[in-house]
Amino acid sequence: MDSIRNPFAPGAGTPPPELAGRDELRESLRIALERARIGRPAKSAMLVGLRGVGKTVLLDKVRADAEASGIHTVRIEAPEGRSLPALLAPQLRQALLRLSHLQSAKDLAIRGLRALAGFASKLKVTYEDIEVGFDYEAEPGLADNGDLEHDLQALLEQVGLAAKAAGTVLALFIDELQYVEEGQMAALITAMHRTEQRQLPVVLIGAGLPQLRGRMGNAKSYAERLFNFPEIGPLSSPAAEQAIRKPLQEEGVAIEDDAMAQLIEVTEGYAYFLQQWGYYTWETAPASPITRADVERASQIAVAALDESFFRVRFDRLTPKEKRYLRAMAELGPGPHRSGDIAACYDARVTSLAPTRSSLITKGMVWSPNHGDTAFTVPMFDRFMKRIMPGEDWRLG
Ligand SMILES: Nc1ncnc2c1ncn2[C@@H]1O[C@H](COP(=O)(O)OP(=O)(O)O)[C@@H](O)[C@H]1O
Ligand SMILES: [Mg+2]
Repeated sequence: MDSIRNPFAPGAGTPPPELAGRDELRESLRIALERARIGRPAKSAMLVGLRGVGKTVLLDKVRADAEASGIHTVRIEAPEGRSLPALLAPQLRQALLRLSHLQSAKDLAIRGLRALAGFASKLKVTYEDIEVGFDYEAEPGLADNGDLEHDLQALLEQVGLAAKAAGTVLALFIDELQYVEEGQMAALITAMHRTEQRQLPVVLIGAGLPQLRGRMGNAKSYAERLFNFPEIGPLSSPAAEQAIRKPLQEEGVAIEDDAMAQLIEVTEGYAYFLQQWGYYTWETAPASPITRADVERASQIAVAALDESFFRVRFDRLTPKEKRYLRAMAELGPGPHRSGDIAACYDARVTSLAPTRSSLITKGMVWSPNHGDTAFTVPMFDRFMKRIMPGEDWRLG
């Protein structure tokens, strides 16, 4: 069919034509933000799930809705290797500048900008990547201890006071939160705890891989009580169907029932895969209605496209040892797997593999659902590993 009109949108963070199956969660996040706006206790939320389930687009959607209702937002993504204060500082500055244009919040926002100046100039010693413009001079004693845990608390408190005076909420949206280093994570949690205790309208909506929950708990044991951790999983069958059918309908295209069933089966409801299969099924189908044969013909190319993009970007960042470890896991199936079973696959000792396992966790490739268990963070990664490292050579190293 006409490629120009293909509605499907595979890609990391690419908004889907239909955001299916997330209405309930969106509503609960909206309620939390609105509660914060009127000074009621509102829990921050961390969206956790595997790669490709749709965390980023959900985060962006919730943020767009919040902005549309007059909530002030900042959005950052925590890439590996940048410090949290460096990412936060310029965004908080912008938020404070916006608040400073509102008469009711002006003075407090300016005080917030003074806090930011103290924060950034003192912490620059430790976090050299901080780069932010100063609009006002620092106020001695305000967020300028040079200690992240203390200063972030003081800074977010000022931001919260300004947001409260403006009758709004400051919502922090942070993607890939699992990459934030533990000490910085602890500081963020402490700061959120503080704003909660003072009932200030600051809400954190984060997203990350499943290890995020444990990482936050390690950083501050009370984190698991302070925040909600809604799990973002594959779409239910009705939601997966909607994700495909609705965009087709809007283009006046029909799909036969067994074609739909096939799409749901091969994708297992994973959002990224639905977009990818939807895309190539559209490309492959000669005309409406889409048939099961169209889906089957599209599958080979959909898999190849996933291998080249979704899976490949992760594979390319691995060392040979890490590849081998993942290949051994793949040999055992989708997982989770016991460390001992993985080691037995290529006659290695568990202890000798421990560093590889932990570097894979740091890179966000695997996580530990239970002590001693290891699971992929990318759905269907086991099958990919077998395609890209076929045969038995990997066992030899
Ligand atoms: N609820 C949904 N319905 C349909 N497609 C979705 C949905 N959520 C995400 N997608 C699609 O899935 C892909 C991955 O989404 P993304 O937000 O990047 O996932 P994650 O951040 O969890 O890795 C994108 O192509 C996006 O358009
Ligand atoms: Mg994402």
